[in-house]
Amino acid sequence: MIRLSGLTKRYGPVCAVRELTLEVLPGEVYALLGPNGAGKTTALRCLATLLEPSEGSASVCGIDVSTGPVEARRRMAFLSSSMGLYARLSARELVAFFGSLQGLAGEALAARVEEMVELFGLSEFADRFCGKLSTGQRQRVSLARALVHDPPVLILDEPTLGLDVLSGRAIHDFIQRERDRGKAILFSTHQMEEVDLLADRVGVLRRGELVAEGTPAEILARTGASNLARAFLALVADAPVAEAVRA
Ligand SMILES: Nc1ncnc2c1ncn2[C@@H]1O[C@H](COP(=O)(O)OP(=O)(O)O)[C@@H](O)[C@H]1O
Ligand SMILES: [Mg+2]
Repeated sequence: MIRLSGLTKRYGPVCAVRELTLEVLPGEVYALLGPNGAGKTTALRCLATLLEPSEGSASVCGIDVSTGPVEARRRMAFLSSSMGLYARLSARELVAFFGSLQGLAGEALAARVEEMVELFGLSEFADRFCGKLSTGQRQRVSLARALVHDPPVLILDEPTLGLDVLSGRAIHDFIQRERDRGKAILFSTHQMEEVDLLADRVGVLRRGELVAEGTPAEILARTGASNLARAFLALVADAPVAEAVRA
């Protein structure tokens, strides 16, 4: 349902993502794990049609995102903490605005907005300006905004970054529910606990390259580490450190 094929992205001389190939199936949660600068955001932005790949391709539901960007965006939600909300719209207005951009209108739009307010617990602050919300509240509004058209593919760039435990848990619960509804979910993180909790499969990015892929159990077996945090360090660190972690 999500497919990256030989995806490469260069920023001038910097190769941020190198020949990345992966697939996420319906009902599957795939974690893209990597330290800062590994290329997670770049890969996800290429998939979300926000960056043009230098080489290779990306598709959702069989639609190539380069040749069918509008069709592709209809089928995906993209969440990123760097995405701004309009400070002078209320949370409710903002969700409605993005619903209208996705082709919803009239009663269907109004009903869907209320559903999102309910689903993400926005009611307390739904009529407050987005500019006045806390980080956790803003993240919930961002999720509602991204998901208002209920697409089959979810792309979440570090969805719990900077959130308190409760807001983080709400997002974890949400991801699990959406998986159970058959969505294909690709999210990035640098937190092992999230991988442990959520991921059916994990891909480890190191300097733009996929250095390991598999179920959490397979990653453990492959590295010989006693837990995922150690496995991750072994995979992304330079060789001497990796040896030390295994020891
Ligand atoms: N707009 C840009 N111009 C130049 N280099 C960039 C740009 N965006 C990201 N990079 C570089 O690409 C690499 C990958 O960055 P990024 O995709 O943001 O990684 P991550 O999300 O895993 O932290 C880093 O070396 C980063 O400095
Ligand atoms: Mg990033």
